[in-house]
Amino acid sequence: MSIPLRLGVNIDHVATVRNARGGEYPDPLRAAKIAEEAGANGITAHLREDRRHISDCDIDRLMEVLTVPLNFEMAATQEMQDIALRHKPHAVCIVPEKREEKTTEGGLEVAREENRLAHFIAPLRDVGCRVSIFIAADKRQIEAAHRIGAEVIELHTGAYCDAHAEGRIEDRDREYVALREMSQFAHSLGLEVHAGHGLTYDCVQPVAALPEVMELNIGHFLIGEAIFMGLDPAIRHMRELMDIARGAEYRSAI
Ligand code: PXP
Repeated sequence: MSIPLRLGVNIDHVATVRNARGGEYPDPLRAAKIAEEAGANGITAHLREDRRHISDCDIDRLMEVLTVPLNFEMAATQEMQDIALRHKPHAVCIVPEKREEKTTEGGLEVAREENRLAHFIAPLRDVGCRVSIFIAADKRQIEAAHRIGAEVIELHTGAYCDAHAEGRIEDRDREYVALREMSQFAHSLGLEVHAGHGLTYDCVQPVAALPEVMELNIGHFLIGEAIFMGLDPAIRHMRELMDIARGAEYRSAI
């Protein structure tokens, strides 16, 4: 029996649609409640420096009403640290952030900023947040994340998902091997392994089948599918695919 796999639903892009018109509709909180009902084990929200989607008020409200844990994604800045220390969410995921990017393009360069990040995450850990670091499937970054005292790493699955979507089979397979080997390596160091970015129904299962991966964080695709089939069935179907992939039968076939 492998370790159960949690699903974190990222609701950022409900806020993206809301902000396209200003006002309050559609409400990310309503989406979070539907996600809880549909079997999400956690809600993920990224408060960006430019507040392009999730707002400070969204975080206040999520902290008040969620019954599942909030995974608060943030850049390693003083402003975000203050907000996290005020709310003390269950988990904090440190991500790189560039103003001009459309989404979180790469993993954090932990190895280059080890000292600063070690000091940055210490107070978050002290107040009880589980600190996760969003990184590429790269041994140097994993070792650095371990050294700075992170308890969790989230492996960036974007390169694997892009190669899959574009039919670049060799790249896809290379990226997948990196995810598999690096999830094993991180697990062997005692880190909890999560994964996410760009996952869809078509490419989620091989990642879900990796026995060391304990949580997937999925957003954009689910909010997109919600347009066509509704959020509840979109999440339930993702959950179903993940559960199938986690089963012994699927794993022995890959
Ligand atoms: N995990 C992290 C750390 C992210 O930054 C994001 C995107 O905000 C996701 C997961 C979800 O990615 P996507 O929206 O492509 O599913």
